[in-house]
Amino acid sequence: MSTSGPTTEIRALARYLEAARSLVVLSGAGISTESGIPDFRSPGGLWSRYDPSEFTFQRFCANAETRRRYWEMGASLYPLLKRAEPNRAHRALAALERRGGLHRIITQNIDGLHQRAGNTPERVIEIHGTALEVTCLSCGARQDRDPVQARFAAGDLDPHCECGGILKPATISFGQAMPERETATAFADAAAADVFLVVGSSLVVFPAADLPAVALERGATLLIVNREPTLYDAAATLALHGTAGEILGGI
Ligand code: APR
Repeated sequence: MSTSGPTTEIRALARYLEAARSLVVLSGAGISTESGIPDFRSPGGLWSRYDPSEFTFQRFCANAETRRRYWEMGASLYPLLKRAEPNRAHRALAALERRGGLHRIITQNIDGLHQRAGNTPERVIEIHGTALEVTCLSCGARQDRDPVQARFAAGDLDPHCECGGILKPATISFGQAMPERETATAFADAAAADVFLVVGSSLVVFPAADLPAVALERGATLLIVNREPTLYDAAATLALHGTAGEILGGI
């Protein structure tokens, strides 16, 4: 019987997480695949169905056809997000907050599932925005996405704001400026963490993928839970390869 079986690793992970004084978590799309939301870079992921270079912020702003394609992609994805339920991994992070010690979840996800699982909204930084709301690129007005996605379905293929501005889901697209306050807070949190846990991210998109490096520089213990290896595995104290639901659900 192997002494270093998965349960031994999960027990070691649990010990690090319980001992953390200021745990910071960086989550990626991999934490939500067990909730039915595809990730981006796994086989069958979103970028195997859509070309990310088509949906840069510049292209979205520049032409109505890109905006129509983007809302059309949303027509199939948005209902998935709305229907999705938090899974065991999300619930485990909510339980960690209730136990104390969890300082922040920095999520690259746009599905709102951490908040739905019970993590306090103030403790969750949505560094790539949210797909559940729409923002006007001119006046900045925010609204729920339902009515705007419905306008698109009813034939308004390039929804605009009452002010005349272009409406866009409140996510951060490639080429779009990162949310300043959220990004600065995320980097400050990573620099102050004693334990930094990455869950379900390929760690290839910046600046989010710099966060584990900032935590390591300040002497944090890096823990990784991901189905595939990441470039940070060698620098991690623990890198567990498997499904987040099973591993985090097991702590
Ligand atoms: N459990 C654990 N890991 C998983 C699971 C799972 N159930 N499902 C997938 N994974 C892993 C994959 O192996 C992959 O390494 O999660 C990772 C997801 O990586 P990506 O699809 O690249 O998602 P993410 O890292 O969040 O992408 C970052 O890229 O396109 C942009 O803005 C988008 O926020 C996104 C950013």
